[in-house]
Amino acid sequence: RSKRPAGAPDRKLARPVTKIGVVGAGLMASQLALLFARQLKVPVVLTDIDQERVDKGVAYVHAEVDKLLGKKRISSDAANRTKALVSGSVSKESFADADFVIEAVFEELNVKKQVFAEVEAIVSPECVLATNTSSLSVTAMAEDLQYPERLVGFHFFNPVAVMPLLEIVRAPKTDDTVLATAFELAKGLKKTAVLVKDAAAFVVNRILLRLMGEVIAAFDEGTPAEVADSALRPMGLPMSPFTLSAMVGLPVAQHVQESLHAAFGERFAVSQNLQKLVDNGVKSLWAPGPEGKPV
Ligand code: CAA
Repeated sequence: RSKRPAGAPDRKLARPVTKIGVVGAGLMASQLALLFARQLKVPVVLTDIDQERVDKGVAYVHAEVDKLLGKKRISSDAANRTKALVSGSVSKESFADADFVIEAVFEELNVKKQVFAEVEAIVSPECVLATNTSSLSVTAMAEDLQYPERLVGFHFFNPVAVMPLLEIVRAPKTDDTVLATAFELAKGLKKTAVLVKDAAAFVVNRILLRLMGEVIAAFDEGTPAEVADSALRPMGLPMSPFTLSAMVGLPVAQHVQESLHAAFGERFAVSQNLQKLVDNGVKSLWAPGPEGKPV
């Protein structure tokens, strides 16, 4: 008998999940849609603000399934089934019969609150709502909900397909049924779920940002990129900090830094340089300015 993860309620409380809605069709959202369809084998609807974004999200899922097929990691039946389970829409109306809806939109509290207000007007009162936020307060996100007890944090790591950890965030009002459903889903997704408190950047990003923040600070202070970034490689990191920040996305890294700064002040300084790079649409710290110099 497998041991119940620390803090997880009795699994008998979990509700069945037979259809999932994903709000957003960007990098995280489309990886989530693929994971849900592949591991849980339930229909997944991806939504976004326009058809182009929706199509891009669905196309990502198809391309990743084709890669798995090419590597013989899945059968052609499973590949076809997974593709067929993921659909896209610009309307959230198709969430009406979903049991679980997760958002992975822009890291802005008001945007997420607006999304949940729209979703709550469509879904049933029993539908579990989840946020994939990296650093925002789940409690604040729940405050205007009609049923705040149904919101839970469900925080994945990039790349979703291979990173084993999932932070499940309990807000003060999250109820045991919702939490038990989240843990059962995590099990079905074959992720290692840990229960964390609703605190700025939860646990993993808080630790990760100490490292990333120092590397970015060294870079800001004029340490050349190749030194600031590569100095840590012999420490056995699977990916250098700059490569990791490019994969996660500089705007996400910057939002996490801001949330941590708001919560802990100078312990987590905000890099003005990083802000400028994000404003200029720079994607990687390896090539930030005209001569590879910080702008
Ligand atoms: N999508 C899907 N699969 C991917 C992938 C991606 N983006 N990147 C790599 N993979 C898969 C590969 O296809 C490969 O699978 P197979 O074995 O089936 O072929 C497997 O991962 C290993 O990849 P590689 O052999 O190419 O490379 P690797 O051994 O260096 O591993 C890695 C790649 C797992 C990404 C590794 O570099 C790593 O662990 N990097 C650190 C990632 C990390 O720290 N993520 C957390 C970011 S923080 C975050 O996401 C939170 C937040 O809120 C901001």
